[in-house]
Amino acid sequence: MKTSVNLIFNVVFLVLLISPSVFSWKKDEFRNCNQTPFCKRARSRKPGACNLIATDVSISDDGDLIAKLIAKIPENNEAQDLPTEVNSKPLLLVVSVYQDGILRLKIDEDQSLNPPKKRFEVPDVIIDEFLSKKLYLQRLSEEKIDNDVGFSSVVYLDNDYEGVLRHDPFEVFVRERGNGKRVLSMNSNGLFDFEQSREKTEGEDWEEKFRGHTDTRPYGPHSISFDVSFYGADFVSGIPEHATSLALKPTSGPGVEDGFSEPYRLFNLDVFEYIPESPFGLYGSVPFMISHGKARGSSGFFWLNAAEMQIDVLGSGWNAGEEKIKSPVDEKRIDTLWMSEAGVVDAFFFVGPGPKDVVRQYIGVTGRPAMPQLFATAYHQCRWNYRDEEDVFGVDSKFDEHDIPYDVLWLDIEHTDGKRYFTWDKLLFPNPKEMQNKLAEKGRHMVTIVDPHIKRDENYHIHKEASNNGYYVKDASNRDFDGWCWPGSSSYVDMVNPEIRNWWADKFSYINYVGSTPSLYIWNDMNEPSVFNGPEVTMPRDALHGGIEHRELHNAYGYYFHMATSNGLLKRENGNDRPFVLSRAFFPGTQRYGAVWTGDNTADWDHLRVSVPMILTLGLTGISFTGADVGGFFGNPEPDLLVRWYQLGAYYPFFRAHAHQDTRRREPWLFGERNTELIREAIHTRYMFLPYFYTLFREANVTGTPVLRPLWMEFPADEETFSNDEAFMVGNSLLVQGIYTQRANHVSVYLPGEQSWYDMRTGATYKGGKRHKFEVLEESVPSFQRAGTIMPRKDRFRRSSTQMEKDPYTLVIALNSSKEAEGELYIDDGKSFEFEHGAYIHRHFKFSNGKLTSSNAAPYAAGGKRFSTECIVERIILLGLSPATKSALIEPANQKVEIELGPLTLRPGWSPSVLTIRKPNLRIAEDWTIKIL
Ligand code: NOJ
Repeated sequence: MKTSVNLIFNVVFLVLLISPSVFSWKKDEFRNCNQTPFCKRARSRKPGACNLIATDVSISDDGDLIAKLIAKIPENNEAQDLPTEVNSKPLLLVVSVYQDGILRLKIDEDQSLNPPKKRFEVPDVIIDEFLSKKLYLQRLSEEKIDNDVGFSSVVYLDNDYEGVLRHDPFEVFVRERGNGKRVLSMNSNGLFDFEQSREKTEGEDWEEKFRGHTDTRPYGPHSISFDVSFYGADFVSGIPEHATSLALKPTSGPGVEDGFSEPYRLFNLDVFEYIPESPFGLYGSVPFMISHGKARGSSGFFWLNAAEMQIDVLGSGWNAGEEKIKSPVDEKRIDTLWMSEAGVVDAFFFVGPGPKDVVRQYIGVTGRPAMPQLFATAYHQCRWNYRDEEDVFGVDSKFDEHDIPYDVLWLDIEHTDGKRYFTWDKLLFPNPKEMQNKLAEKGRHMVTIVDPHIKRDENYHIHKEASNNGYYVKDASNRDFDGWCWPGSSSYVDMVNPEIRNWWADKFSYINYVGSTPSLYIWNDMNEPSVFNGPEVTMPRDALHGGIEHRELHNAYGYYFHMATSNGLLKRENGNDRPFVLSRAFFPGTQRYGAVWTGDNTADWDHLRVSVPMILTLGLTGISFTGADVGGFFGNPEPDLLVRWYQLGAYYPFFRAHAHQDTRRREPWLFGERNTELIREAIHTRYMFLPYFYTLFREANVTGTPVLRPLWMEFPADEETFSNDEAFMVGNSLLVQGIYTQRANHVSVYLPGEQSWYDMRTGATYKGGKRHKFEVLEESVPSFQRAGTIMPRKDRFRRSSTQMEKDPYTLVIALNSSKEAEGELYIDDGKSFEFEHGAYIHRHFKFSNGKLTSSNAAPYAAGGKRFSTECIVERIILLGLSPATKSALIEPANQKVEIELGPLTLRPGWSPSVLTIRKPNLRIAEDWTIKIL
């Protein structure tokens, strides 16, 4: 009987699966705030509803500030009128302080009072190095704030900032020392609420139902919500992933735009055909918000919590009409409301004061972005699916035929034997090793997909082992959870458990992953996790990971999967190579494990447009190695859209074309000669700039500063940049403006700052701090080099980045009005971890007083490893010198060289101000100077 029911279900499901309309975004399939009881409760709370006060404040033996939060009993109040907090137990509050001015606030139930449930704290996100930077508080000062009856406790953060725990009303804030100006605060609007776990009362029903799914909710309500305020802020940004603007629009209060009345949702979901303008939660979640304003700069707030979260940005005047709560500050600020279904308060306050400082502080907690291999920063060719080996070789050779470089060819789910990952379809891919080796001969790599759903097939070795070892996530009745995904009936490996992660990692050894070679890397998809027949296309919240409910860690599941896969590549026999793993789901810390892409976008102009704020937002949260499917996943792009997408995508940190299996083939040569030429030029541009990109990846690896940056990250005082997310900076030197409409003739570009900008095609200069109108060219999207910078390039075109290793460099020097410029170049072996032991070259270039100097920016540590290269500089392009300049002197060789007029790129397009020194033949690794005569 059961089998026939299953069969009917499967048939119906398959019919639904192949019907094209089923996956267009259907709002009703997902819960809104009103259908999510914890969100509805939190949103309906009134400012000032929190009646908690901090008592028993002291410094613990661990050097933390600790306190109890208890409900204040108002005078003349009868017990039955009291708000819920009064009847609950005290909460424990701990404030700890870390280097770099970071304040950490934890609030949880008191375990000594034996709460019915231990709440989940997310492991393996905070890095050990951060924990070692704790400052042990020794002194606590007290002061009265305004007319408070009681005291507030003040702790030292660093020389410029201090943290304050206000006792009554309970509030936590960070302020500047000296002038007392607030930076950011929690509970200034009195919205804090902590639903303590408790026993069910008689007749109470904790179950929740949504579209035929029942969530048993055995532990009842235990959500947390609170308000956070950012002072001196003109806007807030961050909390990916949403397809929306970089500066987050208000979602509550007056003036909320159409479509923005829901909070920003953080709940990792597989959303087919997502719309390009919505606060709806997509594949990954990072509960980290950054604020910025002209007056104060930036600050940041991070809540480490992996349960569903909803965040409201409260528009100014949101609390008008409410009884004004006792707030001492009338400063300009942005209020936000944070709500989570479960977990604890584990929050981090970052003081900035610059945008780059906030990002550094955040990655100080969650870890530095991994340094990718050089090949991974080049162009990737993907499609669902390259059919068979013949198709692979055909595509590969066409790239050569059309003189288009590419580095990686990808295989989607159809390459497997019936969606059993780590296997190959023997008919279509009979010789996977030979196939990879053939590509590797040209310096190219392959990527195969490995998803977390495992086909429930007794003959599939991964399933057999996982089920025998009890490695699967369990359902609420403690049986292996069985859900529907690509292979049909599937179970999901419980990645939260480190032992199971280790087992998974071993599957990537060359012995276990039969047919894999050292040039094969991995793509992790569907790891939200996606469950086609689950509530909201994901796993039921009452599923179990050991004793932990899925609801408590949902947003981190994909992160642990990514971590396990990345560790698997590290464990391979050639584990000295840096792993490359692309993941769709993400969480704080993902930056340590690999790249992320923005999922299933659509081939339309709006999706091209929104890819930029989406990538910029990810970068602000430390996840710098990101991109969007070039061309759009769903649908067939018109050739001009495809070309524009390549021209923009060439600047994405992760540059990959990808398409749905139902779309028409769209490799670069399929749209006529002219379009092939345009796409070739776009891809060539990326290859030319690879030395610059690689240097930026290293910068991200060291400091967290993303490769792609909002304009305001480079020009924090320029208000014109605050709402601009159509243009972006690649590093500090290059500004790129996308073209987001069909057949655009003109584009208006704002060029920030006081210095001027050089057009990257012609070398023509434009004033900064101004909007300019440009004619739109077919050949490229507008891009400009900032005056005062030096960019390294490699201009010779090869088949792949690997083949460019020994190629000479070009330096492009864009002088500012003082005739000065500076830049950097980072080089290492492009693949191993030797750079971590000093095996790299880091040059600093400086032009001033008519002299270009190359010096070592990273003196070798004694005993450190070395990296050497024979590469030379073959061309130096000078922008901004007088055309009358004729020659220069190279030192120490004492050799005179000619200066000629020359093009800025290898394309036509001249400007009298572009001068070139050809063949100075200087070794890139050495110190030298060139003196303009
Ligand atoms: C969904 C992914 O987002 C998409 O990129 C992929 O092609 C399909 N899954 C099939 O694996």
